Amino acid sequence: MTSVGIEQLAESQTEIERLTAENEALRRQLRRAQSLATVGTVTAMIVHEFNNILTPIINYAQLASSGDEEMVHKAIAKASEGGQRAVDICSALLGLLREEAAAPSKESVAELVEQSLLAIGRNLAKDGINLHLAIPKDLIVTTRPAEFKQVLVNLLLNARAAILSKSRSGEVAISASTAPDGIELWVRDSGAGISPEHMDRIFEPFFTTKSGEDGGEIGNGLGLALCKEIVTSMGGTLSVESTFGEGATFRLLLPG
Ligand SMILES: Nc1ncnc2c1ncn2[C@@H]1O[C@H](COP(=O)(O)OP(=O)(O)OP(=O)(O)O)[C@@H](O)[C@H]1O
Ligand SMILES: [Mg+2]
Repeated sequence: MTSVGIEQLAESQTEIERLTAENEALRRQLRRAQSLATVGTVTAMIVHEFNNILTPIINYAQLASSGDEEMVHKAIAKASEGGQRAVDICSALLGLLREEAAAPSKESVAELVEQSLLAIGRNLAKDGINLHLAIPKDLIVTTRPAEFKQVLVNLLLNARAAILSKSRSGEVAISASTAPDGIELWVRDSGAGISPEHMDRIFEPFFTTKSGEDGGEIGNGLGLALCKEIVTSMGGTLSVESTFGEGATFRLLLPG
């Protein structure tokens, strides 16, 4: 090769390296932006939940001000129980936004699921949603916890929206097990399901059917695109099966 050829090759290589670094920086920014959007979505639910936590605390405190000993005990118990739930929700929410070390760590799947449910800030039962959990206590996954929780929060928000768009009640099941090469986790809901013509599009960035009509949610169409991006970067896969009108099941496969 001529010296000009070698020079050009070196230049192209530098350019590729620059573009790769730029691409990585943009991906990081997208993740950050989407985590803030998720927090935006859950904020309204959290405010609602905080209201539900604070109202009985205030009511019991007022009743206890009469000095009735039983009421005082009840007020203290309410304050301690409600305060703890509020603290747990705040710390789960902050956990979603935490900057992460690049290296994945070994995490309990059951705890990640519990934290994700707290980060939504909403007791699903209050929306008429029955939650079924089937996660072995000792199941461990090697993952970046904030990213894993972000995937779960997005899947759960979608499941909740799909149920509420269809009826006033429904079922969400989260189950997990070991897979030959890692772990498998399913999030199943009994919501509206996905129409066959949308099936190929739901992981596309900005694809959404949530237009805000009839008082429903407005979507950005970024949740699943981000989930896919996170799961792929961990060497896993995210897939979906759905019967339109009956619900959807998202299946997450992550290497051990
Ligand atoms: N569990 C589900 N059941 C039925 N449809 C779903 C479900 N999850 C996702 N979808 C469909 O896939 C679309 C894309 O989902 P995605 O999470 O990417 O965006 P979004 O929920 O519309 O908006 P965002 O997550 O950015 O707030 C949704 O608008 C909805 O039509
Ligand atoms: Mg979504």
